[in-house]
Amino acid sequence: MRTQVAIVGGGPAGLLLSHLLHRQGIASVVLESRDRAYVEHRQRAGMLEQGTTDVLRDSGVGERLDREGLVHHGLELRFGGAGHRIPLTGLTGRTVTIYAQTEIVKDLVARRLADGGEVLFEARAVEIDPSAPSVTYLRDGRTHTLECDYIAGCDGFHGVSRPAVPGLRTFSREYPFAWLGVLADVPPSTDELIYAHHERGFALHSLRSPQVSRLYLQVSPDEDLAAWPDERIWAELAARFATDDGWELREGPITDRAITPMRSFVGEPMRHDRLFLAGDAAHIVPPTGAKGLNLAVSDVTLLARALIERYASGSEAALDGYSASCLRRVWRAEHFSYWMTTLLHTDPHGDGFAHRLQRSHLDYVVSSTAASTTLAENYVGLPLTR
Ligand code: FAD
Ligand code: DHB
Repeated sequence: MRTQVAIVGGGPAGLLLSHLLHRQGIASVVLESRDRAYVEHRQRAGMLEQGTTDVLRDSGVGERLDREGLVHHGLELRFGGAGHRIPLTGLTGRTVTIYAQTEIVKDLVARRLADGGEVLFEARAVEIDPSAPSVTYLRDGRTHTLECDYIAGCDGFHGVSRPAVPGLRTFSREYPFAWLGVLADVPPSTDELIYAHHERGFALHSLRSPQVSRLYLQVSPDEDLAAWPDERIWAELAARFATDDGWELREGPITDRAITPMRSFVGEPMRHDRLFLAGDAAHIVPPTGAKGLNLAVSDVTLLARALIERYASGSEAALDGYSASCLRRVWRAEHFSYWMTTLLHTDPHGDGFAHRLQRSHLDYVVSSTAASTTLAENYVGLPLTR
């Protein structure tokens, strides 16, 4: 089989790239190792920057997002028994939107299939040749080869694309904590997201809809999910969100739970020959600040533009600039996610000095317009430039 762009991975990055290319008449085949139901129900991110919603809307897949997405104008930092609002829109003129990654994936899969796109589920890439270029994959118990002009490696952190970049330089950090994330059938106890710093550990109150809450707890990286029955989860959340004025957390049935390790990782460059890495295949951020999905969208938006220019004019100039353009934005998000993570989590190895500094920093962020603007402009996302 032959196509113009072989896309390895049918997560948000691979599916959106295929859709953006199709709109300009460029053919692609998406190879996804899992089945459709699995990719459509994998619980992950939910907070979209304005730049991300603009890309989805402008490319014609924003209809349900506009109907069901919840537009937010601020967030709350909660510590010392009190909440402090950061007015995101007041400080930056921009908004963020709550709309789950599962829904973006459903919208993109439906659209690709309706447009006659080739999305091959249960097709696992096993070998990538960035120079030939081609992708070897397994499907229905047989080995197949997909030949192409270019390969987009959108196969996430554990995929086969990144190892196909020889001489890749890597940069990483591990953190001494993880997140226990739950989805609960209960109306959110808040209209805006609450990021809580507490001596028992960080907690985040997010939401998915007026009926469904999304909550996260800092836990230890080797935590056993079995040690967290519903009652313990609700008691721990209530303790970390408690305020001096008696704020109450609504409880309800938990429908999904998982523990996510936290790490920072960047691989450079994001290209070798005809292979281009995008999204989690190239970089990972800890989830505090919700940059992972937004970075995946900005990478493939730049890659789509560069490929469109190549097919329209024959020029590879934008493809040559792809890695450097992405990495500028990636490193800003890496710094912001690291900063939000260390600002808000309780370091199990931290001493009293470290905790006092952290508390002073939080006080400063909520009392200085300059400091809260720094948080706000990174949180809502920087404009997409080459
Ligand atoms: P993925 O979504 O990982 O997609 C890669 C796809 O490639 C997958 O569908 C995979 O099945 C497929 N694949 C892998 N190997 C192969 C192969 N060999 N052949 C074919 N297909 C292959 N971000 C936030 O902002 N907030 C959060 O709360 C948050 N929570 C997260 C929780 C978890 C458990 C994880 C793993 C990530 C989370 N993230 C979060 C990050 C965010 O979800 C990712 O940044 C985002 O999914 C990146 O999209 P992607 O398309 O690059 O990669
Ligand atoms: C969500 C996840 C995040 O990591 C975050 O910072 C905000 C929201 C979410 O899943 O809704």
